[in-house]
Amino acid sequence: MYAPSKALAKTNVGLNAAIAGVSMFYEIMDTPAGEGAVERAKPAFVKKGGTVVFDRVTFGYKPDEPVLRELSLHVEAGKTTALVGQSGGGKSTVVNLILRFYEPQSGVITIDGQDIGKVSIGSLREAMAYVGQDVYLFGGTIRENIAFGHPGASQEAIEAAAKAAYAHDFIQAFERGYDTEVGERGLQLSGGQRARIAIARAILRDASMILLDEATAALDSESEQAVQNALDDLCAGRTVVVIAHRLQTIQEADKICVIEAGRVVEEGTHEQLLARGGRYAYLHAVQFREELELAGVEQISVSLAAMRSNLLL
Ligand SMILES: Nc1ncnc2c1ncn2[C@@H]1O[C@H](COP(=O)(O)OP(=O)(O)OP(=O)(O)O)[C@@H](O)[C@H]1O
Ligand SMILES: [Mg+2]
Repeated sequence: MYAPSKALAKTNVGLNAAIAGVSMFYEIMDTPAGEGAVERAKPAFVKKGGTVVFDRVTFGYKPDEPVLRELSLHVEAGKTTALVGQSGGGKSTVVNLILRFYEPQSGVITIDGQDIGKVSIGSLREAMAYVGQDVYLFGGTIRENIAFGHPGASQEAIEAAAKAAYAHDFIQAFERGYDTEVGERGLQLSGGQRARIAIARAILRDASMILLDEATAALDSESEQAVQNALDDLCAGRTVVVIAHRLQTIQEADKICVIEAGRVVEEGTHEQLLARGGRYAYLHAVQFREELELAGVEQISVSLAAMRSNLLL
């Protein structure tokens, strides 16, 4: 009697879990897609190098925990805007909102004057190329991965993009070249190789906006140089938003915005911000000292303690 009734009791637990699962499934399937009407609306036309403006945007992944707090930001067309600041400040979140992976809770984001919430997601993402730390390659050949989003591309165009992305040589070195299977069931490419595939994809698509989130962070210095060269070529003349922890890589940016606790606390060029002696100058000095320490230099003239006390005043 005991064993069967125990089994029966267990069945009930399993059944309830299944019912909960099924009801969650229906809840999700029954949710209106939100987009719907808007997706059929007139698609946004993003001309080469769109201007993106954040106007007092507040957003949190959880409604009561804002990550961006009335953040205002101006990304100028054809220029490079760098986002820097301490970890967790909200830099990647800004990029997530530009790509409309999430919608702001208040405030407006516009691209060339159009509210991005009112244009189709497809047309928005088509105008943009994203190269992040963790590039996703789907199952298929290298050729298909580069041509993703551009199905009719010719072999010449694909190879030209791969060359410009400093990817052609390593692709050629594979036995099957551009027909090498990658992704889950294929060959596992290194971080630097995947980054260069993503860059080739972006070059082929000729997107007007490039979003780079720590694109070279996980690479060794040799592939970092190759990827950096590819990025420099890709970004020339386009609208670029670049997030970098290593400040050295963004010194040349047209504008640097320091984001802290969900706000832009400082902006300007490298020289302007250094001269100001504020947050950027502090971050820069800290990083400079770390690099010198790594290089074995003991004494430096920058007095961090003095800067720190200045900031506290
Ligand atoms: N998908 C998510 N769900 C919930 N919270 C998140 C999510 N992504 C980020 N956050 C939180 O939002 C805050 C800002 O994160 P974000 O990734 O924008 O920071 P960041 O400035 O890019 O930092 P890092 O320099 O470390 O990349 C953090 O507190 C983080 O924990
Ligand atoms: Mg980030």
